[in-house]
Amino acid sequence: MTFGRITALLGVITAFFVALILMYPDMRWALPVAASEQAIGIDFLFRLMLIVSTGIFIFVQGFLIYFVWLYRRRPEDPEDAIGRNLHGDNRLEIAWTVAPALFLVVLTILSYSELQDLKLDEVVPGSHLVKVEAYQFAWSFTHPDTGISEANVLTLQKDVPVTFEITSRDVNHAFWVPEFRLKQDATNGFYRRINITPNMTHQEGGYPDGFPLRCAELCGAGHSVMLAKVHVLEANEYQAWQVEKLSSAAPSPDASPEEIAEYGIEVYQNNGCIGCHVLDVAGGVGAVGPTHNGLANTIQERINDPAYAGSATTVEEYLIESVREPNAYVVEGFNPGLMQPYTTEQISDEDLQILILMLLQQQQ
Ligand code: CUA
Repeated sequence: MTFGRITALLGVITAFFVALILMYPDMRWALPVAASEQAIGIDFLFRLMLIVSTGIFIFVQGFLIYFVWLYRRRPEDPEDAIGRNLHGDNRLEIAWTVAPALFLVVLTILSYSELQDLKLDEVVPGSHLVKVEAYQFAWSFTHPDTGISEANVLTLQKDVPVTFEITSRDVNHAFWVPEFRLKQDATNGFYRRINITPNMTHQEGGYPDGFPLRCAELCGAGHSVMLAKVHVLEANEYQAWQVEKLSSAAPSPDASPEEIAEYGIEVYQNNGCIGCHVLDVAGGVGAVGPTHNGLANTIQERINDPAYAGSATTVEEYLIESVREPNAYVVEGFNPGLMQPYTTEQISDEDLQILILMLLQQQQ
């Protein structure tokens, strides 16, 4: 086969793959669903780079294989034969320097303009502010316009631009919803911003439980379970959610065991306890801290144990101490300092009381 024919063949192969990329522009084989306005420009750049690098890859590998075959050792070659010694070709060298350089210039201009459009670290006037706080090993979200705060579930309204203001209570984490395409560091002492406009509900995106929000920075033993769900709601659903959130208050301590359980489990899940502890009724699967199954039967023993270093005398006091001052006493076999104290701003005294009553229901 001649060089001209090989070049034509590689051109046909490249055209085939480029056609595939153009025919399936949503690229669900390579990317998750694009669920934000910001994803459109980012995915365009991704497709452009994929198309160009597909061509480069096919031609480089194709010519490589062709030349290995063309200049192979032949049976009639003498024992000490060496390959043809080729010197440079100026036209070729100029061409393969200038062409990639031009592409990089184009890519730089496109990427820079995309970065400007993303308005990283800016507060966009009129957008809905959400404060994000990451901590080992959960997420808390506050909507300052209503004062609503939630944890491990983030609720947003479709087509409403959101400015996320992201920080960390402890070590470095990173805020990442792959479907929104953008990622931002959560660093203690810093507030980093990203602007995202979700443009489809989580059901439309094919995630009935919500888009997955994951921590994208190795942050300790519970990193892999540092997950949250993003619910994107239509305007009327979002308003209904706000009303419900604003009206829900802790039940009285003498409420029925079912009411206590329901509210207590919500507090437990919303504060990320499930990321670090096992609790079957709440879907807790974390192994960073001791299990909460059967807690009602084990606390008195711990208080009576001579190794107990805290100041609680009753099971209720013990549980309050475990939440407000988790390092006063750490159960043997677990790492001190991993759990951060929960303040009354994070879990109110009323909510904590119901949470404790729920935990004390756990007989096994
Ligand atoms: Cu937080 Cu990884």
